[in-house]
Amino acid sequence: MTVLRILSGVTLLLLLCWVSMGTPDDGEESVSPRRSLVWGPGLHGAIVLPVRYFYVQAVTAKGNNFTQSPGKKTFRVVIKALASKEFVRIHVPDPLDRNDGSFLVRYRMYASANQGLVIEVFHGDKHVAQSPYTLKGPVYHEYCDCPEEDPQIWQETLSCPAEETQILKDFDPFPSIDLNRMLEEVPSRYGERGAIVHYSVLNNNIYRRSMGKYTDFKMFSDEMLLSLARKVHLPDLEFYINVGDWPVEHRNANDTPGPLPMISWCGSTDTRDIILPTYDITHSTLEALRGVTNDLLSIQGHTGPSWYNKSEKAFFRGRDSREERLQLVQMSEKHPDLLDAGITGYFFFREMEKELGKAQLIGFFDFFNYKYQVNVDGTVAAYRFPYLMLGDSLVLKQASPYYEHFYTLLKPWKHYIPIKRKMGDLFEKIQWAKEHDEEARKIAKEGQAIARELLQPQRLYCYYYKVFQNYAERQTSKPEIRKNMEHVPQPDDSSAVCKCLKKKISKDEL
Ligand SMILES: *[C@@H]1O[C@H](CO)[C@@H](O)[C@H](O)[C@H]1NC(C)=O
Ligand SMILES: *[C@@H]1O[C@H](CO)[C@@H](O)[C@H](O)[C@H]1NC(C)=O
Repeated sequence: MTVLRILSGVTLLLLLCWVSMGTPDDGEESVSPRRSLVWGPGLHGAIVLPVRYFYVQAVTAKGNNFTQSPGKKTFRVVIKALASKEFVRIHVPDPLDRNDGSFLVRYRMYASANQGLVIEVFHGDKHVAQSPYTLKGPVYHEYCDCPEEDPQIWQETLSCPAEETQILKDFDPFPSIDLNRMLEEVPSRYGERGAIVHYSVLNNNIYRRSMGKYTDFKMFSDEMLLSLARKVHLPDLEFYINVGDWPVEHRNANDTPGPLPMISWCGSTDTRDIILPTYDITHSTLEALRGVTNDLLSIQGHTGPSWYNKSEKAFFRGRDSREERLQLVQMSEKHPDLLDAGITGYFFFREMEKELGKAQLIGFFDFFNYKYQVNVDGTVAAYRFPYLMLGDSLVLKQASPYYEHFYTLLKPWKHYIPIKRKMGDLFEKIQWAKEHDEEARKIAKEGQAIARELLQPQRLYCYYYKVFQNYAERQTSKPEIRKNMEHVPQPDDSSAVCKCLKKKISKDEL
């Protein structure tokens, strides 16, 4: 059965290649260094990111894109300081093979390169596309505190989108923001939940006070604010981040008194919270190639076997944070041929462990051994969703009132398959996908493509900035450093080279 499936998959692929490439002749199936493509933000010195990245697309001599991997070691990248006298430590792992003919190259700089960088991309000993690329200095590293004073220039450099649908929607109920009302009302209304952090940003310095004992996750908002402030001059701001799971503001725009613009990581259809990218994707973006292995970039090179070689089952592993997850396990016991679901840790429904058993932990990259991925809410939105979308499996997404910052740009049946909240239609949808393999593959591909676009680290920074910019424009009084606020300093990076040439002398110092 399996062998047959693999064989028919291979035959189909060969057929597809043959159709799309015409009759192969000499050189047709090998990589052309000159015609291959290299592009992305990592080739622009002015785009400062924790991990810089760019893409390489393998192209044949006839100018056809490879649509399958031409081999993991097809390209080699060397990055060094432009001036031979400058030594800059740069971590450059091997290019990530995205298994579709394209590669993702990442690098992390541990100091700034004042003169600039040279990036060489090789196929064998031949330069690829316009390699070598020269990035004129200074090229700053992540921890160099060197903000661009003009936010317009910074946003243009990053090619930030002019509008973000979700941000427009989120700010619609808040034509103006009354900081004094918030100062009075937020502590009594939301403070007792113990998960609110009150921030003020003045002259690009960050101050905050925690309201309660469940505010440890402020480390994530701190680290993002500091990272942003090193890159662009933030407007003066005073705001409240809810670092707990659930969004908090349930009042409607036309209620009296009206809602307050609380900021959260997850939104829901029955709350008015303004959302930011989740702490999970934010942290993984900041710590990529350092503290985390599973991030929005690394996942792209670990998407398992190609579509035709994946197991034709739906897959789920996760904790017991919602009843439907337990239900999935029961469903998979009835139809192990269609669904492999397991709970890996019990906390909320401990009494169910005896009945349902505990599944072995499996590495996230191995999820992509399966063709179909079931995304079921956890406490709120399942924060694995962005990672699942970046794989090349088809995502079956449970209907949910919860959402993250990018969901509004995804369309059911175009980017993923919707399933009902109670999941009564799950098997029907899996069956549909099995019977419409090419359509299913196409949806998986489109979902992956839009996730690759929307979840780029660069876009994340744009999104954060735009939220703060919109917020700042609506403030009706000047933000202040309030009682009990402490300064959140930039991390010490004094051992690394960082000569900031952007900082203007402020008027007070003249
Ligand atoms: C080849 O790949 C590049 C980069 O992904 C893409 O922009 C281009 O449209 C592709 N060309 C064709 C003919 O598909
Ligand atoms: C599927 O797996 C087999 C065995 O590992 C491999 O030889 C084949 O190239 C794979 N097919 C595709 C389309 O990746």
